[in-house]
Amino acid sequence: MKCVDDFRLRLGWHELIPIVVGGMGVDISTAELALEAARLGGVGHISDAMVPTVADRRFKTHFVKNKLKLYKHNVANTDKTDVQFDLALLAEATQMHIGRTMEAKRGPGLIFINCMEKLTMNAPKETLRVRLRSALDAGIDGITLAAGLHLGSFALIEDHPRFRDAQLGIIVSSLRALQLFMKKSARTDRLPDYVVIEGPLAGGHLGFGMDWAKFNLATIFAEVRAWLATEKLDIPLIPAGGIFSGGDAATFLENGAAAVQVATRFTVAKECGLPDPIKQEYFKAGEDDIEVNGISPTGYPMRMLKSSPAIGAGIRPNCEAYGYLLDANGNCQYIDAYNREVATHPDEKKIRVWDKTCLCTQMRNFELWTCGHYTYRLKDTSRRLPDDSYVLLSAEHIFNDYRYSTGDAIALPAEP
Ligand SMILES: Cc1cc2nc3c(=O)[nH]c(=O)nc-3n(C[C@H](O)[C@H](O)[C@H](O)COP(=O)(O)O)c2cc1C
Repeated sequence: MKCVDDFRLRLGWHELIPIVVGGMGVDISTAELALEAARLGGVGHISDAMVPTVADRRFKTHFVKNKLKLYKHNVANTDKTDVQFDLALLAEATQMHIGRTMEAKRGPGLIFINCMEKLTMNAPKETLRVRLRSALDAGIDGITLAAGLHLGSFALIEDHPRFRDAQLGIIVSSLRALQLFMKKSARTDRLPDYVVIEGPLAGGHLGFGMDWAKFNLATIFAEVRAWLATEKLDIPLIPAGGIFSGGDAATFLENGAAAVQVATRFTVAKECGLPDPIKQEYFKAGEDDIEVNGISPTGYPMRMLKSSPAIGAGIRPNCEAYGYLLDANGNCQYIDAYNREVATHPDEKKIRVWDKTCLCTQMRNFELWTCGHYTYRLKDTSRRLPDDSYVLLSAEHIFNDYRYSTGDAIALPAEP
């Protein structure tokens, strides 16, 4: 029986263990986690979601405080049009977060950044350009274009000196999305270096509608693979979403995948950014405790634990401090939902909003517990202690379990 270690991922001149730890937004996939994946010879992702906030936590900077100070006068105003990001400060925060991570890199693997198009930041094109270019300036090994079609993203960096040597890939959930991206990017005369095919069992936002359950990763993977073969294009394919064991991963590799992208198993790693008590919530979750809902103001369905404090929370929109989801016109679906509830319940002290959530604040505060479909199997990957908590795992342990285990086997950590 084959295992992941029987295969290698070739990206440019790099030869890697074919395990990619996916980006998990707002510092769930920390630099520490990504660095471990790289040290072990795979690919680790940091995320470019809310980087100024992440930098403040990591480097004791004051990007958020200073932005809030600048726009404090607007807090009670429902019109957020004026709340803009300072592009120079955005570049500074991005370069700091990435630069320090790259300086700390050891070992033969690579560090990529997950770059979400849906972070429209009240100036979608301008802010995306800065985020992409700053990542390249700071020496990131690669950029994974995520959460959006990215039809203009290559054009935003085509004149950057690293455009042709950095690894650039995209996450798609259908053949159609990949075809569209390639058609729109053709003018830049550059193919993606890899394509992540994310199926409906993934964590975070889904590239499907609420009918996600009708879709299947293996089928989409086979469609994309067949199309690339007819086009005579040799682009490494990296399936993602619900690949829970080394055996699952090896099956995809045997069927032509170049690597697998995984995330949920790493949410209970010591190096993962979720606070430890929340990691225990992930361990303890049963299948019925997980849902896909529409509360993200991005418009994409999102999978999460039903016990997430973000669900039903009615906090005042916090766009002056954050504002990452404001669209090109300064709107966010949460602002509308919140204002509607305030208007309907004028005397209520504590507003509840059920249909949307203030995603920036809730993700920043780890109150929205997004997770993959198989989160309910995490309890089978560790040992339960007498107080009913579970032993947190090292990223190395999880990585090596994917790398060496075969079939349905999952290696448990050593007895505490
Ligand atoms: C907690 C969590 C947060 C995630 N956040 C993001 C994100 O910010 N951007 C993104 O493109 N994918 C995100 N994902 C998706 C992962 O990068 C990955 O592709 C997917 O979850 C792999 O499936 P698995 O979790 O079943 O292994 C997230 C996944 C999890 C579990």
